[in-house]
Amino acid sequence: MIVGVPQEVKNYEFRVGLTPGNVSGLCKQGHCVLVQRGAGEQIGLSDESYRLAGATLIDSAAEVFKKAEMIVKVKEPQPQECAMLREDQILFTYLHLAPDPIQTKALMDSGATCIAYETVTSFNGALPLLAPMSEVAGRMSIQAAACHLEKTHGGLGILMAGVPGVAPAKVVILGGGVVGRNALQMAVGMGADVCIFDRDIERLRQIDAFYGNRVRTYYSDPLLIEQRVCEADVVIGAVLLPGAAAPKLVTQEMIRKMQAGAVVVDVAIDQGGCFETSKPTTHAAPTYLVDGVLHYCVANMPGAVARTSTFALTNATYPFVEALANRGVIEALSIDHHLRNGLSVHRGNLTSKPVAQAQGLDFVMAQELLVV
Ligand SMILES: NC(=O)c1ccc[n+]([C@@H]2O[C@H](COP(=O)([O-])OP(=O)(O)OC[C@H]3O[C@@H](n4cnc5c(N)ncnc54)[C@H](O)[C@@H]3O)[C@@H](O)[C@H]2O)c1
Repeated sequence: MIVGVPQEVKNYEFRVGLTPGNVSGLCKQGHCVLVQRGAGEQIGLSDESYRLAGATLIDSAAEVFKKAEMIVKVKEPQPQECAMLREDQILFTYLHLAPDPIQTKALMDSGATCIAYETVTSFNGALPLLAPMSEVAGRMSIQAAACHLEKTHGGLGILMAGVPGVAPAKVVILGGGVVGRNALQMAVGMGADVCIFDRDIERLRQIDAFYGNRVRTYYSDPLLIEQRVCEADVVIGAVLLPGAAAPKLVTQEMIRKMQAGAVVVDVAIDQGGCFETSKPTTHAAPTYLVDGVLHYCVANMPGAVARTSTFALTNATYPFVEALANRGVIEALSIDHHLRNGLSVHRGNLTSKPVAQAQGLDFVMAQELLVV
């Protein structure tokens, strides 16, 4: 198969879909890998390292899209990339379609087979291709919050850990999944006063068993959320309903009641966000104020630590890339229902039920379409 790796075009996005090691693995199995010149340069993955691994370097994204049978990317395709997709081409990348009707329509119009990293599943129902980026974003969320709590960054002027005689920051984490637990680990490590909400009691049991009385766990009750959020210095939004728009757990009214200079980090912004006041931001201008509360809503947080993120992501995606290249898309999707759970759009049809529900569109079961 001809596999294409274009350079990412989203603002401040330096990750890349395949590493030189991945390229070498594919080439040794007889595949041809086209890498856009400069795709990994910004994170120390030189064109020369891709060339030595067996890649063919290509000057333009247009040429990569034209020649490749499968495009492997990181972020959802931008409009100019959607326009280059074609029927019978595979797109394997993050899509986050639920809150994005324009991209959904563009992918359906392209006729391509689009597999979303974020809804591929594993045997225990987890999301193995979201997990590595969630680990990065969860850990970064506390780093970002600590930085923005500083007065010079617009925050309250609070040190996350406090000092002897002065209380640490109060941190509320909404969602105890991968993002939430990684945020929790960092917040506890920094010495913050932390509580965490989830609606999954088993998750809360595991957190309680691990941290004991160092962390307070709460069931996701709207009144309790309101109480804790209104007195917090930092709130991390980390909830997810797989494939669907995030539930709005924090209302504008609650934000209004928070103290000026408090910081909210909405990691769930890529699914629409879990604060009513959230809107996506970029690393170029990561924050904005609503009622004096600093909002950090960067939709591609891991992009800031692009080298770590590239290796963490491709460690998880590469086995699926290999399966798609070796077996072809129909067979790979037919035999692996976990990969099939990632199928969102196929030959003009929407195959993701949550995306269809979020946008009021029709959907078709993937199995009905997977015929040679
Ligand atoms: N901004 C970024 O750069 C970035 C990076 C990685 C992940 N994310 C996003 O972060 C979000 C969380 O990802 P994750 O990997 O932790 O997901 P996850 O599935 O591991 O965890 C989500 C948690 O939310 C909980 N939840 C769902 N509804 C809830 C509710 N009403 N109240 C309380 N808890 C609720 C679930 O029980 C689960 O424990 C996703 O939207 C993901 O796309 C964003």
